[in-house]
Amino acid sequence: MKFFVDTADTSEIKDLAATGLLDGVTTNPSLILKSGRPMREVIEEICALVEGPVSAEVTATEADAMIAEGRKLAGIADNIAIKLPLTLDGLKACRALTDDGHMVNVTLCFSANQALLAAKAGASFISPFIGRLDDVHVDGMELIREIRVIYDNYAFDTEVLAASIRSANHVKDCALAGADVATVPPAVLKGLVKHPLTDKGLEQFLADWAKTGQSIL
Ligand code: G3P
Repeated sequence: MKFFVDTADTSEIKDLAATGLLDGVTTNPSLILKSGRPMREVIEEICALVEGPVSAEVTATEADAMIAEGRKLAGIADNIAIKLPLTLDGLKACRALTDDGHMVNVTLCFSANQALLAAKAGASFISPFIGRLDDVHVDGMELIREIRVIYDNYAFDTEVLAASIRSANHVKDCALAGADVATVPPAVLKGLVKHPLTDKGLEQFLADWAKTGQSIL
């Protein structure tokens, strides 16, 4: 499973890119607002930090305007994935932009039927929002499982990009369900490495090593 980070905070992205574990970045208008920076400037910087896909979201709601915005965003860098909402206009724009050869991430997906439509429209990524479904007492992970089955039934190339991830358990369950990608907030991504027994074990090994009085180098 690939890891994308869900943020427009470039210092977090720089830190995570240095680990070699980062496969891409997703942003949305709320994350751009949180960054407090102009969208174009922040997206340009992210695209230079990360080789993989960087999702940048359109804000128009009508297909022709979405296509124009998408083409402008795609002009920022070769690794832009144009993010479009899951509406009829969004799907129309998806077909046009993928026919142009651009990567498209169809976002705000809350049902398997929506995901089926996005795949038929040629999307490179579908973004089902797990956490927001859990928030309204619907099992978000079940949606990932359903989309996986449907995409495999018809050999769709569209990658399942699990989004709105809130916890380490979400990440593990996405991997078990066969999501292609998980986009994860920086704190959750960094938290995946932690285990108290790892810390305790390392402390013991280092203490015992110090007692030997030896050095490897
Ligand atoms: O980028 C879209 C998605 O990951 C949003 O997550 O936590 O705002 O539901 P959240």
